[in-house]
Amino acid sequence: MKLWQGRFDKALSADADAFNQSLPFDKRLYAADITASVAHARMLGKCKILKEEDVKRIVEGLEGILSDLKAGTLEAEGAEDIHSFVEGELTRRIGDAGKRLHTARSRNDQVATDFRLYVRESVDRATELLKGLVLALVEKAEGALEYILPGFTHLRKAQPIRGAQYFNAYSEMFLRDLGRFRDLRERVNVMPLGSAALAGTSYPIDREYTKELLGFAEISQNALDAVSDRDFVAEYLFAASLSMTHLSRLCEDTILYTSDEFGYFEIPDEYSTGSSIMPQKKNPDLPELVRGKAGRVYGHLMAILTTLKGLPLAYNKDLQEDKEGFFDAEETLFSCLTIYTALIEKLRLCPERMLQAAGEGFSTATDVADYLAKHGVPFRDAHAATGKLVRYCIEEGKTLETLTLEEFRSISPVFGEDILRAVTARASAEARGSVGGSSHKAALEGIASVKRRLAAF
Ligand code: ARG
Repeated sequence: MKLWQGRFDKALSADADAFNQSLPFDKRLYAADITASVAHARMLGKCKILKEEDVKRIVEGLEGILSDLKAGTLEAEGAEDIHSFVEGELTRRIGDAGKRLHTARSRNDQVATDFRLYVRESVDRATELLKGLVLALVEKAEGALEYILPGFTHLRKAQPIRGAQYFNAYSEMFLRDLGRFRDLRERVNVMPLGSAALAGTSYPIDREYTKELLGFAEISQNALDAVSDRDFVAEYLFAASLSMTHLSRLCEDTILYTSDEFGYFEIPDEYSTGSSIMPQKKNPDLPELVRGKAGRVYGHLMAILTTLKGLPLAYNKDLQEDKEGFFDAEETLFSCLTIYTALIEKLRLCPERMLQAAGEGFSTATDVADYLAKHGVPFRDAHAATGKLVRYCIEEGKTLETLTLEEFRSISPVFGEDILRAVTARASAEARGSVGGSSHKAALEGIASVKRRLAAF
């Protein structure tokens, strides 16, 4: 029997029923649904809309259902959605009192409330996992304080950078993601319950009281908006999408840097895979999978935006489409954050190879130009002279590090002995002491700054 059967002569046909159902996926909301119903019943009792004895039976009945569902001795099935299921089961257990629970509410404000409770928890879980990842990155940064590796632009060697600075860069991205989740949590944490179907309710309810019971920070201020707003889902999916973007970039770096061609990092065997045909292969399947899964989360963001864009006020059944994508997105985000945190913890760094590569490709040419500029040569002329020097090196098969003082002087008499020390990769990185730069001190301050901001979450 449907909750709404009264007006109909015939039962819903089996195929329509199956199509209309959300129980197979919204049963995940069972704990939120029951928690919200308990609070609603208590409020109805406090406001004398329901008798205390009914409230007592309702609350006990709901608590029994909750523990049975948790224990797995009760299966949520055979109803249109989780709300119908819980109410039906309650009525089966306690009789008429169960039928009074739906006084002064609608499934429209009920589902909006349940989902906000669920998303709020999901935000907290995402926050914990992101914090864990940043912590792993901080540890890596600390371990890489003395390591120098090539920094790239256009995927061409640009300037030497410090290992700590490299890992800090990703910490910065994930700190911003943490900030996004924190910001959106405020907007999730608003209670729609009491909006009823769309117009509010004629019962003398106390929404502030229900709000307190459910730990919401505020109550919604417009019933029409409250039952049809799913901004919070879109916001979550955007924050999840951007977190996946950052993860995916980290994956791309890992894939490149662990290849033979780069060889800066190594993924340990426990996190690598092989090939069924090529016995020599060690493949980066895990980072590739995480990179691949980013698209899936973006898809869910597009889907919710598209679902929302044409909806007339207020509730429409289209809104039932808010859930499956969300569940898949949070699961994807959680599993990716978890596996990547483990992978970062286990990632091995190869400092000799990094340092050697950092010195290749004339990556300290900017230091040569800076040297001249600091000795009075206009930077543009210094740039041109250094370009000539690089060309000379290419022709002679030399590197900037193997040039003699005489060779430097043949391009400009300004060069002194100290240029020979300035063109090493380590000196180049050390020279960049600006805030956020690659010097030891700057990288150390970068780590301290990440730690400070992480502690605020
Ligand atoms: N399963 C529905 C959903 O997820 C619950 C709300 C139903 N409301 C209604 N007016 N049919 O949106």
